[in-house]
Amino acid sequence: MDLFEHQAKELFAEYGVPVPTGKVAHTPQEARDIAAELFAAGSSKVVVKAQVKTGGRGKAGGVKLADSADEAEQLATQILGMDIKGHTVHKVLVEEGSAIAQEYYFSFLLDRANRTFLSICSVEGGVEIEEVPHDRLAMVPVSPLDGIDRARAREIAEKGRLPQEALDGAAELIERLWAVFTDEDASLVEVNPMILTADGQVKALDGKVSLDDNASFRQDDHEKLEDKAAADPLEAAAKAKDLNYVKLDGSVGIIGNGAGLVMSTLDVVAYAGERFDGQKPANFLDIGGGASAEVMANGLEIVLSDADVKSVFVNVFGGITACDAVANGIVAAYKLLADRGEAVDRPLVVRLDGNNAELGRKILNDAALPGVQQVDTMDDAAERAAELAAAGA
Ligand SMILES: Nc1ncnc2c1ncn2[C@@H]1O[C@H](COP(=O)(O)OP(=O)(O)OP(=O)(O)O)[C@@H](O)[C@H]1O
Ligand SMILES: [Mg+2]
Repeated sequence: MDLFEHQAKELFAEYGVPVPTGKVAHTPQEARDIAAELFAAGSSKVVVKAQVKTGGRGKAGGVKLADSADEAEQLATQILGMDIKGHTVHKVLVEEGSAIAQEYYFSFLLDRANRTFLSICSVEGGVEIEEVPHDRLAMVPVSPLDGIDRARAREIAEKGRLPQEALDGAAELIERLWAVFTDEDASLVEVNPMILTADGQVKALDGKVSLDDNASFRQDDHEKLEDKAAADPLEAAAKAKDLNYVKLDGSVGIIGNGAGLVMSTLDVVAYAGERFDGQKPANFLDIGGGASAEVMANGLEIVLSDADVKSVFVNVFGGITACDAVANGIVAAYKLLADRGEAVDRPLVVRLDGNNAELGRKILNDAALPGVQQVDTMDDAAERAAELAAAGA
């Protein structure tokens, strides 16, 4: 899960990382009130910053300085509702303006290729890190066993070529960010820019944090950080049922067993769909091994509750869970859904192959479920599903 900048900064503050004072506003009026408070407390400028989970907000006009509460309100009016790389701005962070002497870059991340943590530090910050020349970047591996103490943190800042006057402040900040990174089970903590202020303080002026969802079982506080408003309602419903579902924008619902098979099913459907007015897959759904009737019913229910879905392609390669079990699952799912008042009302193309395919096909034939067609190969089935989706559109 990625955090908003304001959430990252709230987390930083809990760990003693210096950040500018500020608050989140959802309306221009709120932005005005927060700005007025900041000016009253002595700020000479305030900054209004779009809160979206994407980079390059500054370049898109989503980060602006204001000299008065009036101006902050106007800027918030402009920025709220703005679209930044497909993300609509629903809230802004209004914070005190900092007198910036220099901007640096710092991050901790998981370096999968080298099976270690990595810190990146550079005297050149505030710009996209991809644009900083490699010889201006210090990339220092961090052993999870040794971690980071103040001396090690200072060494990293030195390698990043930070000037003498910033080293103490940066070392303290880096040591605290390490606590954020490890205690919160993050896979990324990035501060760009980390600044040196005119009066010699080092602060985090921006914050990007990705939390590792695999650790959510031991991070009870993380649930409240979820952006429920942005989550797709179908994805949220699927998650509640433990289904591995991703909403896409096509018309052919997809259900398969195994992530690899489902991925290639998306490809063949998109390819076949080109011959039928550009029909595309409507979702990714991997029901995994052991496709019980209940899992199949839940999967069908989620896929069919997408109004854009005009046909469904169930693509199964029987392995440990044999095709007869999957076929029985489909038959039982039809009954279960009918009982729930959600009878399947769109055509279903089923391709069964692999372990016990013959038996599985026979079970489905004998059940004669309305709207179910069997096609023996994946390509032909994808074609049929795309054709049916085009006809139903
Ligand atoms: N509180 C602040 N006071 C003064 N200047 C600020 C403040 N916050 C941001 N800025 C200026 O705006 C620039 C961009 O801010 P920030 O890094 O938060 O956004 P961004 O880099 O455009 O967005 P992203 O990190 O999403 O790409 C900073 O490099 C800094 O120069
Ligand atoms: Mg930034």
